[in-house]
Amino acid sequence: MLTAIIGGSGLEELESLVITHREVMRTEYGEPSGALTFGKMSGMDVVFLNRHGPGHTIPPHRVNYRANLFALKQTGVERVIAINAVGGIDNDLESVGLVIPDQILDYTYTRKHTFYDSDHGPVKHVDFSYPYTEALRQKIISTAAQNDISLTPSGTDAATQGPRFETAAEINRMERDGATVVGMTGMPEAILARELELDYAVIAVVSNAAAGRSGTEISVDEIMKNLKMGMDQTRILLELVIPQL
Ligand code: HPA
Repeated sequence: MLTAIIGGSGLEELESLVITHREVMRTEYGEPSGALTFGKMSGMDVVFLNRHGPGHTIPPHRVNYRANLFALKQTGVERVIAINAVGGIDNDLESVGLVIPDQILDYTYTRKHTFYDSDHGPVKHVDFSYPYTEALRQKIISTAAQNDISLTPSGTDAATQGPRFETAAEINRMERDGATVVGMTGMPEAILARELELDYAVIAVVSNAAAGRSGTEISVDEIMKNLKMGMDQTRILLELVIPQL
């Protein structure tokens, strides 16, 4: 079963991927964010895709999520681990830490969010009660536990439209809704993976306290600094998880 890793902000490449080749793909939904990078990680075949494109030029609302997922499916990928930078809403979350979300609240709009919208195709409604693949989530959680990597094993990811950060009132509303973390790339990636019947789980890396939670402005410089530590841990976790799959 071929695994893909979709890297987000702070994880634009994977040093431990021994690259065999890159492939520029086109799909009927357009072009993916960049070339797919094929290689071996911990001895296993892996495909890597940088969600924000070379040089981090594609903002979250302009990522062609459909092309990304469809291209991966076309290459034979059956399982996706996605890495998302997030803000922490739940005060118990350390400001730098990993969360394996088990639920989603979708606040995005205008993104192309389904493969089932052709003029002629059949109407199709997909079950999304549990948006992540539980077996894959559990594999990540147990691998972390066996290797003393601390993480939060559940959480609700609020997917926002961006590219601006949220207002403090929006974060308060999301907390009342049940969200524990907030990020801009959680959706529609998860539902598109489900529509394509790909196994899918997310490692969310907390890079900052969400708007209004720390008394300071949210700064991208600060986020990138904080992300470094979380992404270093994420890389280690990925290298351990991949051979377990
Ligand atoms: N909000 C939305 N997206 C994010 C944040 C945030 O606070 N931090 C990192 N990505």
